[in-house]
Formats: sequence, structure tokens, C-alpha cells
Amino acid sequence: MNGQRKRIGILTGGGDCPGLNSVIRAVVKTSINIYGYEIIGFTDGYMGLVNNRFKKLALSDVSGLLDKGGTILGTTDSFDPFKMVVDNDGEKQERDMSGRIIDNLKMHNIECLIVIGGINTITTGYRLSLKGVKVIAIPKNIDNDIPGTDATIGFISAVNTATDALDKLHSSAESHHRLMLLEVMGRRAGWVALESGIAGGADIILIPEIPYDINLVARKILERKRTGKNFSIICVSEGAVAAKGSEYIDDSCPEYTNQMYGVSSRIAAQLEKLTHLESRVTVLGYLQRGGEPSPTDRILSTRLGVEAVKMAAEGIYNKMAGIVNNELCPIDLTEVANKCKHVPVDGELVRIARNMGVSFGD
Ligand code: F6P
Repeated sequence: MNGQRKRIGILTGGGDCPGLNSVIRAVVKTSINIYGYEIIGFTDGYMGLVNNRFKKLALSDVSGLLDKGGTILGTTDSFDPFKMVVDNDGEKQERDMSGRIIDNLKMHNIECLIVIGGINTITTGYRLSLKGVKVIAIPKNIDNDIPGTDATIGFISAVNTATDALDKLHSSAESHHRLMLLEVMGRRAGWVALESGIAGGADIILIPEIPYDINLVARKILERKRTGKNFSIICVSEGAVAAKGSEYIDDSCPEYTNQMYGVSSRIAAQLEKLTHLESRVTVLGYLQRGGEPSPTDRILSTRLGVEAVKMAAEGIYNKMAGIVNNELCPIDLTEVANKCKHVPVDGELVRIARNMGVSFGD
């Protein structure tokens, strides 16, 4: 390439999480210090790539970034470059802007694009790879729902935040003889609820993968009450759903919409009726997405960032840098795109939780 240094593009897409800046730092430091590459960062995910909003990243840009939450590149979690909504004389139209992305990458002389994101970001990267773009993906999101890697960047930090919240709820539940429900994120997978529920000593854990019967949840609470434990800690994944036919329909409860966000309020109202114990809800929300990355996430981010640049140097494209059984391993994008890693309902974590007396409402 006429003596010009190899150039790598990088973007962060999807929901933010602790560890994003750590991985940007690892990519930039490795590219510049080890391989002498230039790094072009596109802002706000694929939107920046379409609109050619970029910044050439220098070592100074990533200095002091290791423990900072968020992403210095910005992100969006609802932009699909294959269906960009444009306003055409007042009429909204969807336009495929992948051609513009290819042109912009060519204009910058970028050899490969590193996309740091969740399933949607990685799936878009896969679709671009089908059009000839050389893509390397790095898995991140607090949900840990990406196949081909033991953990995603941001997941452990979110589990730490949720566990700390559960620890804090115990004393209030016991003092007031209450049901304390903590609603955590995780989208369609129950990993955050399962792991923080185990770590935080929850009595009941409700996850999307195991539809709950509210009557069985109530039974667990009443069993505890009979042993003198007139309080319970319930960790609810935002995607938890009631088992078919188990709905406790009571017109005094708010209309159940089975939507994300707020499922725990519905469950709390039903449990008050069924157990005659007061219930209180805490929705942890975006606290799980913010703050500084845990040391585990800083190490994971650094490992995956270094590995992604090494893959670029070795010409290993159209794969995701994953870690399986603690070993770095590139996973083909076809194994990741449009997929979701759910909690195995007969897996070891569910089993050990049950051994500890946890009820999953089933
Ligand atoms: O995917 C990460 C995540 O935090 C999910 O756990 C959550 O359901 C979703 O993003 C929230 O999306 P938004 O940031 O668009 O509200």
C-alpha cells in the first residue's frame, strides 16, 4: 500500500458497558506500539462510519482510560446501516447505506474493521463481511448472551453491581419482614440474574429460560415463612416470563403486559396477594451499565483487544475474538450472527443454585 502504514478501523456499537474504554485502549496501544498500525476510530457505532465521522486515535487518546466506564467513541444501540431511516420530503424511508460504508473504508485505506459490540453489532459486521469488508468482532455487553465466548466484556462488572445491590437489600428485607425484589438487566438471557442471584444469596431467581409459576414462587416464600424466615430476596431478570397457564389473574393487579422493564412490579403485586407479605421493588437499570470496569473485565478487555489486533496482523478476518475455557479462540462470525447464548436450564449453575435451596419458580 505505497508505503503507507496499515490502517485499522474501530467502532463501538450497542449498549455501553464497563470495559469498552479498556478494550479501545488495548487495541490502540497494541496497534501502535507492537505493529506500527494507524487506528481510525469511528464515532457512535455504524452511524459514524456511514457519515464518515472519525478520529485518528493516538496513544494520548487512550492514556488513563483503563478504569473509565463508557466509550470515548460514543455508541448507538438502534442504528442499522442496512436500514437507515432517511426523511425524503417528509416521508420516512429506509435506505441501505452499506455501500457508503464500503466507500468510506476505502477512502481511509482501512484494511480491516474491528467492531466491538453485542449481537446486533456483530451481526451487522457479519453482513458487511458478506460484502467484502474484512471484519474482526470483539464481544461486549452486560448480558453475556453472545455464543462462542465464556464471558462478554461488561458482564462481570454488571454482576458485581447487582450482587452488591442484593447484599444491601438483605438487611432491609429482614428488618421489615418484606419481600425484596431486585430487577436486573440481561435482555433475553438470564445470566446477570443467575450469577448475581447465586453470589448475592437470593432465595428465588427468575430468568427468561425458566418460565415461572407465581403460585410456586409464593409457595417457596410461605415455606420460608413457616421456618421463621418471614422475608425473601427475589432476583428477577427483566426478561422473566410467567409459565403458560400459571398466570394469577387479579383485576386489582396492574394489567400484565409481559414487556421488558417492570416485570418485577407485576410479580411483587401478585406475591403480596398470595403471601400477605409486603413487597418492595428495586429496578437496578443503568447502574449495571455504568461505572468503572472490574479488574476481571479490565483483563478480559485487554486480552480481547490485543488478540483482535493480532488476528488483523495475521490476516484472520471475519471472526470474533472469543475466550473459551479461558483460552483465546477466534470464532467464525457465522457461529455468532443472529444467535443468543441462553442459560442452559440443566446446566451446572442452575443445579448448584437449586442445591443451595434457590427456587426458579418452576
Ligand atoms: O444489551 C444491554 C442492555 O443493557 C440490556 O440488558 C437491556 O435490556 C438493553 O441493553 C437496554 O437497551 P437501551 O440502552 O437501548 O435502553
